[in-house]
Amino acid sequence: MGADAGPGAGPLAAQPTGGDVSGNGRELGGSFALGPWRVRRAGYGAMQLAGDGVFGPPRDRDEALRVLRAAVAAGVDHIDTAQYYGAGTVNELIREALYPYPDGLAIVSKVAARRDTGGPLLQSDEPNELRQGIEDNLATLGAGRLAAVNLRVMDPSETPGRQFDAQLAALVQARDEGLIDGIGISNISRQHLLRAAAQTEIVCVQNLFNLADQQSLDVLTECGARTIAFVPFCPLGWPGEVRHRLLTDPVLAALAVRLGATPAQVALAWLLDLAPNILLIPGTRTRAHLAENLGAADVRLDDAARAELTRHFPIARITGIR
Ligand SMILES: NC(=O)c1ccc[n+]([C@@H]2O[C@H](COP(=O)([O-])OP(=O)(O)OC[C@H]3O[C@@H](n4cnc5c(N)ncnc54)[C@H](OP(=O)(O)O)[C@@H]3O)[C@@H](O)[C@H]2O)c1
Repeated sequence: MGADAGPGAGPLAAQPTGGDVSGNGRELGGSFALGPWRVRRAGYGAMQLAGDGVFGPPRDRDEALRVLRAAVAAGVDHIDTAQYYGAGTVNELIREALYPYPDGLAIVSKVAARRDTGGPLLQSDEPNELRQGIEDNLATLGAGRLAAVNLRVMDPSETPGRQFDAQLAALVQARDEGLIDGIGISNISRQHLLRAAAQTEIVCVQNLFNLADQQSLDVLTECGARTIAFVPFCPLGWPGEVRHRLLTDPVLAALAVRLGATPAQVALAWLLDLAPNILLIPGTRTRAHLAENLGAADVRLDDAARAELTRHFPIARITGIR
């Protein structure tokens, strides 16, 4: 497991399910490698569990705990988090809901940002700050080790140079010392990926990518060629207006009806169908949306559906990734 179970780690069945999401052991879209790990392709992103603006305590604490337990009970074995969600709140919820962590649960975090007491997200990406960020994650999660930690780059348009190399070196050291099993990079360009992969093994890339924003297609393609997991953040669209437009899009809605699914499920199924190295981490505060999102793994796109989505959301014109 990504996080140290500690003595007395219990079996998954010992966790309360807390919700109507069922199917522990479901296939959840098959699996893909996350470095030395192998995780199911439908996972869960925990950012939404913090209060509004990803700051402070959740609106409904009990439901937040139930969502986490329901995700694991449904077979989710990949949870994305960050110390700066809350800040600290989301990691603490994960610990409260799931500790002792079941074997096989990959907890993945990210470093290079922090929040001050007022809430705004601040850069915290000097090598010593990255190390501190990893240690803070371990402390709030109550974990001895994480499955992977992403270096969250602030500006993907910046040319990576010596500072980037020094940041990577800090993560390599943490991996060498056994604090993390794998190194990921997030919010990056293809140039960052090539530079990082030339220096060390990269197990995952986490970039914005969804039907409405496919700018990272080149990064996805490069990850596919290198058998690196690509983890799209905001898979349902970002910011909120984009998500609203996407999920109320008439073409998506009609396709969803034809496939017996919801628009959100089709948006997620499209990602699963696009490339085998895509791992999903949609975020939600509710068990109802959690169940819906995990159900996307059971939605099968046919050729007509693929063609319609490609036509209607036209950036997917690069061939060869299916
Ligand atoms: N590396 C990075 O820089 C970075 C940046 C952002 C996010 N992330 C990670 O990526 C994960 C996913 O991104 P995200 O949570 O921002 O965005 P998302 O998964 O695209 O969308 C989450 C939003 O959609 C709503 N939603 C969820 N399921 C829905 C459904 N079935 N139908 C309708 N609405 C639904 C949620 O509201 P409800 O709560 O009401 O369901 C929430 O407002 C995050 O949780 C976080 O772990 C990483």
